[in-house]
Amino acid sequence: MKDSAEKFISELLGRMTLEEKIGQLNQPQGGENINPEDIRSGKVGSLIKSAGALPGKEKSGSLGVEQANQLQQYALESRLKIPLIIGRDVIHGCRTIFPIPLAQAASFDPELAEKASSIAAQEASACGIKWTFAPMLDIARDPRWGRVAEGNGEDPFLGARMAVALVKGFQGEDMSEENKIVACAKHYVGYGSAEGGRDYENGEISEPTLRDIYLPPFKSAVQAGVGTVMSAFLDLNGTPATANHRLLSEILRGEWGFEGFVVSDWTSITELIQHGVAEDKAEAAAKALQAGVDMDMCSQAYMDTLVENLQAGKVSEQEINDATRRVLRIKQQAGLFTHPFTDPARFAREVLTGESRQLARQFAQASMVLLKNNDSILPLKDFHKILVAGDFVHARGELYGTWSLDGVDEDCVAFDQALTQVSPKNTQFWFASDPDQALDYALEAEVIVLLLGEHPSRSGENANISDLSLPAGQARLVDLMITLGKPVILVIFAGRPLVLTRQVQQADAVIFAWHPGIEGAAALGEVLFGAASPGGHLPITFPRATGQVPIYYNHKNSGRPVTPGGWFNSRYIDLPSSPLFPFGYGLSYTSFEYNNMRLSHEIMRDSLSIQAEVTNIGSRAGRELVQLYVRDLVGSLTRPVRQLKGFQHLELQPGETQCVSFKLTEEMLAFTRADGTFDVEPGRFNVWIAPNSASGLRAEFRL
Ligand code: GLC
Repeated sequence: MKDSAEKFISELLGRMTLEEKIGQLNQPQGGENINPEDIRSGKVGSLIKSAGALPGKEKSGSLGVEQANQLQQYALESRLKIPLIIGRDVIHGCRTIFPIPLAQAASFDPELAEKASSIAAQEASACGIKWTFAPMLDIARDPRWGRVAEGNGEDPFLGARMAVALVKGFQGEDMSEENKIVACAKHYVGYGSAEGGRDYENGEISEPTLRDIYLPPFKSAVQAGVGTVMSAFLDLNGTPATANHRLLSEILRGEWGFEGFVVSDWTSITELIQHGVAEDKAEAAAKALQAGVDMDMCSQAYMDTLVENLQAGKVSEQEINDATRRVLRIKQQAGLFTHPFTDPARFAREVLTGESRQLARQFAQASMVLLKNNDSILPLKDFHKILVAGDFVHARGELYGTWSLDGVDEDCVAFDQALTQVSPKNTQFWFASDPDQALDYALEAEVIVLLLGEHPSRSGENANISDLSLPAGQARLVDLMITLGKPVILVIFAGRPLVLTRQVQQADAVIFAWHPGIEGAAALGEVLFGAASPGGHLPITFPRATGQVPIYYNHKNSGRPVTPGGWFNSRYIDLPSSPLFPFGYGLSYTSFEYNNMRLSHEIMRDSLSIQAEVTNIGSRAGRELVQLYVRDLVGSLTRPVRQLKGFQHLELQPGETQCVSFKLTEEMLAFTRADGTFDVEPGRFNVWIAPNSASGLRAEFRL
């Protein structure tokens, strides 16, 4: 199969003119407003549908599929009839918007992520989209950065597991299937290290940190067969990723054997001029092509300058042929040469189905993190008069979060309807977004549920914030409600960790619901009243204050590790040195106890098995996320105080005990060492079986 495909591509390549080759490397702006003549004359290899920035601006799908077919028709009227590949940011759902990616990571459930991205692929392909600019795999340690919402948090092990699941969901085993689409691992690499959490700023990452923290999710995506990779805007250590030959050619292709194509991020090729590594558009295009960028997203630099670059000897015909070959290869693997058109009838039967809504609800519940639950006040019972107040009381499309281009507001059920439907029959509700009205109702209410958090316009690209506190006015509302001396339940909707230090003290219970997607209201209702349990755990550290950032669990020990009451080892003198909530943290509606940890060997050779018993000591059935962490106590380089190396869910009935077992292999302990090699080093290790990254049962072994 592969040989005949390569033969087909070589034969086609042999018939293409230079202009037609360059045309395949060109993805112009404007999407559907493109001039058909540009497509017919072979000047366009791909189109990006980027219209509709906020949910509800356009009905998706029905608009897309006829258009996509028309655009393909123009392509088939070109001399060589090479189909377009039409791309769109289907980041966490197309019409059925699932929880934001950071929330999906909080589920620690790659299988759910694979199912959701498979539905996203089904819906997007029914709309004529054959390429998504997802999954976003940027490790992020700075929640001031708005794009922390789009990724899988701070940990490379979790990030790598999610990367594989998402690529498989989008692409399936064969991305030429009509309900599968080509995925795109982005933004390669290190975009999350932008200084100050400020989009588009530069990042400095040491080689060991690049290799062991930022690259692993991308390597896993490549090993899972991702069809494309997107180069980041970022100036990494002085060389912008879009002009970085070592990243794009030596590592991605040379070391990992990536055979798909690389697309630049939006005008990141001409941005090389602003970065100051290219004098003009021609030099920018030459640098990007030679670094390994195959397709030019929206800068026109390739279309405008590659012929002159070739004539001036700045690029070679071989480089243009190689890039064209890679683009044709993915188009061929995507089945575009054999079936470029989409059956319009698919939209009505495959988009926004009952099954997709059900999965969205389940995913939202698996992602919600229970941060506090004093006296098990949740799930609510025996409360008959409930006030629901706060900025999110009337939220609908706001629940989608960032990058939800095809979400339609009206598809979201509002809280008043959702909560009424799922609560006990004789429950009286008041819903108030106005503080004065809320105060008035609060006098009557037995319990107060506050729905607060950040609007999606404050999350995602170009939405960085300098202060992680709740948005203006919300802390004051909490202060006001607390004075009434009634139970207060806090539900936070956000695309990033927020500083909730004061509110966590004040409230009786706190649920962090992220931006939970299309079924968010019903999902929350079932969680509040106990028809479902919140299953999430933090994929990213929650700081006590913005000033603590960056703060993350897999940090180095330093020469003066923080010890309670220690001397000259504090980190700030104005707050405790620990985070508000650590990576991996999440409560449930029952409680679990960990006992009897044991190792198969004291000395590890090849592998080691670690076991412990987990007991549900509460009165409700529950699902526990058991986590495995290790620490390499001495290395040729300093080593993190903990590293996640495994996780699994246990379903436990009240009183039930199960034995959990993990297998640790030498390969899992390898790291980028002082001499640059990737390998393990003998010595002492700690290992934990834990409910989060700050506690658990610990044992020691030697390698
Ligand atoms: C944006 C983003 C990228 C997105 C692309 C197309 O600027 O950086 O993630 O896929 O442009 O919208």
